[in-house]
Amino acid sequence: MQTINKKDIPQEITVEVEKLSNLGYGIAKIDGYVIFIEGACPEDTVKIRIGKKNKNYANAKVLEVIEPSKDRVEPFCPMQKICGACQLQFIDYKAQLKFKKQVVEDTMRNILGEIPEIREVIPSPKIKEYRHKIQYPVSETKDSKRIIAGYYKSGTHELVNIKYCPIQPDYCDKIIEFIKDEAKNCGVTGCRENSGELRHIVIRTSEYNKKSLVILVVNSKSASDGIKKLARRIYENLENISGVGINFNTKNTNVILGDKTEILEGEGFIEEKLCDKIFKVGAKTFFQVNPQSADNIFRYIKEYVSTNFSAPSILDAYAGITAFGICLSDIVDKVVSVEEVKESVELAQEVVKENRIGNIELHNMDAGRFFEQEVKSGQQFDITILDPPRKGCSGESLDYAYKLTKKQIIYVSCNPATLARDLKYLKEKGCRIEYIQPFDMFPHTYHIENVAIITLDSH
Ligand SMILES: C[S@@+](CC[C@H](N)C(=O)[O-])C[C@H]1O[C@@H](n2cnc3c(N)ncnc32)[C@H](O)[C@@H]1O
Repeated sequence: MQTINKKDIPQEITVEVEKLSNLGYGIAKIDGYVIFIEGACPEDTVKIRIGKKNKNYANAKVLEVIEPSKDRVEPFCPMQKICGACQLQFIDYKAQLKFKKQVVEDTMRNILGEIPEIREVIPSPKIKEYRHKIQYPVSETKDSKRIIAGYYKSGTHELVNIKYCPIQPDYCDKIIEFIKDEAKNCGVTGCRENSGELRHIVIRTSEYNKKSLVILVVNSKSASDGIKKLARRIYENLENISGVGINFNTKNTNVILGDKTEILEGEGFIEEKLCDKIFKVGAKTFFQVNPQSADNIFRYIKEYVSTNFSAPSILDAYAGITAFGICLSDIVDKVVSVEEVKESVELAQEVVKENRIGNIELHNMDAGRFFEQEVKSGQQFDITILDPPRKGCSGESLDYAYKLTKKQIIYVSCNPATLARDLKYLKEKGCRIEYIQPFDMFPHTYHIENVAIITLDSH
C-alpha cells in the first residue's frame, strides 16, 4: 500500500470517523496515518484541525461536523464540552455500549493476539446520578477570592467551577455549593498555586440510604479553627451527613488524599448495600463509584459461582472491603481475602463480625507476598478472584495465583489493556479464556469494566 507522507496531510481536512479509541477519541485514517479526534463519533464526517504530527499518529480537534453520525445526540449537560469528565455524552447511550465492546475487541486483538468470546455490555442501571464518589479540586478566584470547585477543563489545569453535575446525586451539588459559600465565612481559603488551605472536597455518598461522608482535604498538617468551624457547619446544617473529616495533604502531587484523616464530626464511613448485605465504606476505602452497576457485577459472579460450583473455596485477592468474599460467603465453603489498605480490612472485619460470618479469613498485606506465602504452605483454592488496580497484576503475582488456583480464575478489571496483557500471560501458561463479560460502570466516559472467566485445564 502506498502511504502518504505525513507532511503532505493538510492541517485542516475533512475525514470520516471509523471507530472509537480506548481513550474515547474518534479514529480516522488518512492512507493508514492515524488521527485521534476529540469529540468525534464513529460514522461522523468532520472537518478537523490537526495538531502536532507524530511518527505514526496525530491528535486533532473538530472544527465542524459536516455529516453527523446517526448515533450523535445533544449532550444533556450544558458543561459537557468544557468539563473533561464525560467524554462520550454526545453519543447515544446504546451506541456507547456498542463502541465500548468494539474497544475491548480491538484491545484483545492488539495485545492478546486474539479475540475471545466477548459478550454484550451489561448497561448501567442508571445513566444519570450514578456517580457516588465525588472528588472536586478547589481553588479561589484571583481577585474576588471566591471559592470555586469542579473539574479540570479537558487536558488542562484550568478549573471549571461546577454548580450542577447530572451524573452525581443532586444533593451532592447542594453540599458542594454550601461548602463554597461557607468556607469564606469561616475564613477558609481555596488553594492557588500550592498556597491556600482547602485543596479538595471528597464526598462518598450511599445509594442505599443517601447519607454522605464529606472529607475536606487541606494543604496543612493540622486542622485550623476555620476548617473545624466549616466541618461543624456542614454537619449541623445539611441533612443526611454521616460524618465530616479532614484529610491532610501537603504533597505537591496529583494524589488527592494524604495518609492521615481525622473525623471531626459524626462517623468515618457510609453504609452501602450489595447483594443484600450492608457494607461500610470509609474515606480511603476502594469502592466502585457506581453502586448499582457494582451490584450487577457482584450478583453476576455469585450466580456464576453457584451455577458452576458446589461449596468451593475462594481466594478474594485485591479485596478492598472484601465485597466479593462477603457477597459469596453464604454459597461457598470458605473465603480467604487479601488487601493492602488497612482501613478497608478493618471495615471488612466489622461487617464480618456484625453479620456473624464464620467462614472468612481476612489478611492485610501485599497480595504478591501473601500469594508467595500461601504457595509455600501448599494452599490451593477452587476459585481465585483477582480484582487488581488499573495497572493489573505482575507476572510474579500471576505465577503464584496460577499455582494457588485449582479450577478457575475470575479476573475483574477496569483496564482492558492490562487485562489483555495478563490474559496473554495466563494463556501462555496453558489457561483457557472462557469469555469476557463487560459491564458499563461509567456511562458517558470511555471507561469499561470487564469480568474474564479463565479455566485452568492443566490443574
Ligand atoms: C479495583 S480495587 C478492587 C476492590 C474490591 N475487589 C471491590 O470490588 O470493591 C483494587 C484493590 O486492590 C488493592 N491493592 C492494590 N495493590 C495491592 C497489592 N499490591 N496488594 C493488595 N491489595 C492491593 C487496593 O487498595 C484496592 O482496594
